[in-house]
Amino acid sequence: MPSPEMEQTAASHTHRYRPPEDGERLRALLEGKALCPLAAVCQGDEVEARLAPCPSGEPLRFLSPDAEETIRALSEAIRFLPKVTWKTSHTEMLLNGLRDGRWHGMALEQQKTANLVSYLDYCLREELNEVEIGFCMTHPDHRGRGLVSRLLASLLLLHFHRDFRVSTHESNLPMSRALARFGFTVVEERPRDRINGETTLYLTRKAGTGFPLEA
Ligand SMILES: CC(C)(COP(=O)(O)OP(=O)(O)OC[C@H]1O[C@@H](n2cnc3c(N)ncnc32)[C@H](O)[C@@H]1OP(=O)(O)O)[C@@H](O)C(=O)NCCC(=O)NCCS
Repeated sequence: MPSPEMEQTAASHTHRYRPPEDGERLRALLEGKALCPLAAVCQGDEVEARLAPCPSGEPLRFLSPDAEETIRALSEAIRFLPKVTWKTSHTEMLLNGLRDGRWHGMALEQQKTANLVSYLDYCLREELNEVEIGFCMTHPDHRGRGLVSRLLASLLLLHFHRDFRVSTHESNLPMSRALARFGFTVVEERPRDRINGETTLYLTRKAGTGFPLEA
């Protein structure tokens, strides 16, 4: 029998929760599983999220500091377009952020190899009721399969009651498309912010914004 908060269908189920109080329960539901959030909508102080099993089966991991070597392996396979202010490599910046505890990593793990195939990190700013998304990356061999979208959707569900901010560069179409799908809009543009003179876009998303991931 489905619990009252779960309505099962053949391929997906609906999970209702209150983001602040039920955060740990939702995290436990997602952690180690291959569940893809398909859609979410706010109904009063509850969120109704539709989740489906991911056919490709990569479990979601919330990363602890001892995952450093697997994060490094993925990060070193990725090319970022650095901002002019970056003083170290993106891998060192990313690992420093995780080591000092301000940033938190989430990733999808390939079952066969236990390698990370997609990763994002984020920083919680409690005083602003805001989440900042930092690095997002998918291994070049696994792009275009919806992996970073799945990570973004999972993070949004966990912090549905908070505003979000993120930046990307103007010509990064995959990232811009993923962000637009989740209701992020550009609030600032900083020209010549990248080593090649590229414009950086700053985007935000209001707390409680619903999303369809499957459309
Ligand atoms: C940006 C990046 C993380 C996307 O990861 P991904 O797992 O391939 O992304 P997804 O498969 O979830 O696709 C996201 C969106 O991009 C689209 N997309 C994927 N590959 C694309 C491509 N080559 N060209 C245009 N759009 C593309 C997808 O269709 C999807 O859009 P949709 O939701 O409208 O269909 C990945 O390309 C990457 O690691 N790039 C290098 C690092 C980087 O630039 N990170 C972002 C910095 S903020």
